[in-house]
Amino acid sequence: MFHTVLCDMLGIRYPILMGAMQGAGKPRLVAAVSEAGGLGVLPTFGETEADLLRQIEETRALTDKRFGVNITPVGRAFTEKRAQICIDERIPVVTTGLGDPGPDAVAAMRAAGIKVIPVVPTVRHALRVEAEGADAIVASGTEAGGHVGHIATMPLVPQVVDAVKVPVIAAGGIGDARGFLAAFALGAVGVQLGTRLICTTEAEDSGWYKEMILRTSEEGTIISRALTGKTTRAFATPEVLAYEEARLRGATSEELKTYERAVRAGRKKGEDYEGIRQAVVGQICGMLNRDEQVKPTAEVIEEIISEAAEMARRTAALVQHC
Ligand SMILES: Cc1cc2nc3c(=O)[nH]c(=O)nc-3n(C[C@H](O)[C@H](O)[C@H](O)COP(=O)(O)O)c2cc1C
Repeated sequence: MFHTVLCDMLGIRYPILMGAMQGAGKPRLVAAVSEAGGLGVLPTFGETEADLLRQIEETRALTDKRFGVNITPVGRAFTEKRAQICIDERIPVVTTGLGDPGPDAVAAMRAAGIKVIPVVPTVRHALRVEAEGADAIVASGTEAGGHVGHIATMPLVPQVVDAVKVPVIAAGGIGDARGFLAAFALGAVGVQLGTRLICTTEAEDSGWYKEMILRTSEEGTIISRALTGKTTRAFATPEVLAYEEARLRGATSEELKTYERAVRAGRKKGEDYEGIRQAVVGQICGMLNRDEQVKPTAEVIEEIISEAAEMARRTAALVQHC
């Protein structure tokens, strides 16, 4: 059940991709997702080339299953350099974060046999990356953690599905079997999970991040440019709220910089997240408010698959009953 074209395209058991997660998505989690039947994806943003190579090696030491690498296309030279590393390392799948990887990088990776899967926030963007040669597309709604657009997953996914010919993967706000099953009703052939996977035993964290998720409701996130300069969904901490209040009352750019510095001072400090105050997170954190939600990745994935299968059976019975 749930064996879709995505499973054949990527050589995976379940149509579940790990959303690359700068900071939280280290080799242990990447390997755990691939071992559990999905596709683990290594983030590369904020990593040096040497770190990326070390993490590819570390992941290979933990699993012999396929895993992907994510490139955040922040500039042509950066994207092409990272694409070349993926080619040299024979990485089978590359996802790209919000932004445009560009036709040259896509063509070079595809020529090397890499499946290229960009993440998009709009139909317009989906059409552009399809024209550049994308093998599949992740349509990511505004509910997601990280860099986001303004269209929610529910209206975005079917509109992208209608607009493109390549397979579409749904992302943003998917945290359990209900969201997984809904993605298929919207026309997707798989899902990408981010926030849900932070609450696993394999996610990298000194405890702070998971604690914060466990204490945050569905109202506890906000979209702001304060963290990275781009629209990013993150915890609505007092520092981010102060930035947004200042922005809305028309603060000067000099004033805003002061608020921005307060936010950025609380971002990643060291490998173990020591001292972090600000981080990105999706709206599903309100679904993860219980300690028992922090469990091994394999359990999370098996639960999604088995509960979705049961739910699909119940729905089919309901339809027959009507
Ligand atoms: C902590 C965190 C870090 C992220 N970092 C990246 C990244 O480096 N590159 C990227 O393409 N997406 C990044 N994302 C987005 C995820 O890959 C994924 O698309 C998103 O989390 C899916 O929505 P969800 O959080 O509702 O599951 C990040 C998300 C989170 C929560």
